[in-house]
Amino acid sequence: MKRFLLFCICALTLPVSASEPASSPTSSMKEIEFLHWWTAKGEVAAFNLVREALDNAGVHILDLPVPGGGGDTAMSILQARAIAGTPPDLVQLEGPSIQSWAALGFLHQLDKVAADGNWQENLLPIARDVNQYQGHYVAIPITVHRLNWMWINRKVLRTYGLAIPTTWDELIDVFARLKKQGVEPLALGKEQWQIALLFENLAFGYGGADYYQRAFINMDPEALNSQITYDILARFRAISQLVKPGMSHMRWDEGTQLLIEGERAFQISGDWVLGELLAGKVSIPDAIGCYPTPSKQTGFIYNMDSFALFDSPRTHPETAKIVSQTLSSPAFLKAFNKVKGSIPARKDITLDGFNRCSVKAKADMLTASQTGQLIPSIVDSMAVSPLVQQATSSEILRFFNDDNMKPEDFILHLQNIPRGG
Ligand code: BGC
Repeated sequence: MKRFLLFCICALTLPVSASEPASSPTSSMKEIEFLHWWTAKGEVAAFNLVREALDNAGVHILDLPVPGGGGDTAMSILQARAIAGTPPDLVQLEGPSIQSWAALGFLHQLDKVAADGNWQENLLPIARDVNQYQGHYVAIPITVHRLNWMWINRKVLRTYGLAIPTTWDELIDVFARLKKQGVEPLALGKEQWQIALLFENLAFGYGGADYYQRAFINMDPEALNSQITYDILARFRAISQLVKPGMSHMRWDEGTQLLIEGERAFQISGDWVLGELLAGKVSIPDAIGCYPTPSKQTGFIYNMDSFALFDSPRTHPETAKIVSQTLSSPAFLKAFNKVKGSIPARKDITLDGFNRCSVKAKADMLTASQTGQLIPSIVDSMAVSPLVQQATSSEILRFFNDDNMKPEDFILHLQNIPRGG
């Protein structure tokens, strides 16, 4: 556990930007600090709903947004604050890290609120265990995000007479044709998590859930050394060679902006892109289409956002109760997820009024859950420990950047990642 806490401590000195409160608290209001990484336009629109809901419940948020998609920087700040003995009160967390923080004794138990709201019955099955530690609820389930989405600027494809690709080879062919016309095919920044997410889409889509689970979650040597891995890496290299010359250090939301403007034809990323498109009043799926990235069966890679209440003098039981009751209510979750582009983590919420892409995501999630194609994301913190996640993503980045790195070396490096950390 110590290793987890000390992980990436190099970021201790990174600044946290505390933004000005949108409204001033009244004297009777409780205050809590909220650490999260929602800094893009669509994310801020969703965050404002958190602020509003808590304001109405008498709790004022001191906002601590930490830029950096995927939350790597935010998590480093959290570790630094926890080591210093001053963790924020409310924190956006994902996946196994919830259990790690609970095991270290940092998190409030939410069992009473969970029992009153019948979470056990009302949550989506994938949202139950991940928010519990040793049978106690320790985090509030908020979103389910789909990560295997392909966002497409339809006008760009129409201009060059290109059809929507349905396989990875067709996709690579479309990328090559666009390049020939002088069009940058993919909105992709040089950040590790963006590139690792592209690989995850390809590996899952090309290999299927069973292969993906065995090769990259279980690190089964047979699956990892199979021909499928070589086929995937060949395609990953082909994509890297097509897109690298046009890449810059852009954030994912800057990429979405280029997609909207037709400066890029595709973006392969989670449905926070939908939130961004909605905030930009883009017509979706008419102008920008949402298609699952190519896969043999209907598949669904997910990550989930949860909120955890850390122990601090400000989060006494009454505040914790108000916050968790407010943020787990169906009315809040419906309003929030509609704006965020995600699916509510509760199953007792209908998607009327949601965008068509969200409705499709939910239908695909249900199909995938019945066919074994519903898989937690490695690169977005749902499937493996933070150490394994970082080590895997950094090997993916290396392979993407270094045309001379052999598939054998990639496989070997992955096999050598220490597990159980
Ligand atoms: C989070 C999303 C967020 C995205 C991009 C993901 O890890 O789950 O809520 O919008 O990162 O910042």
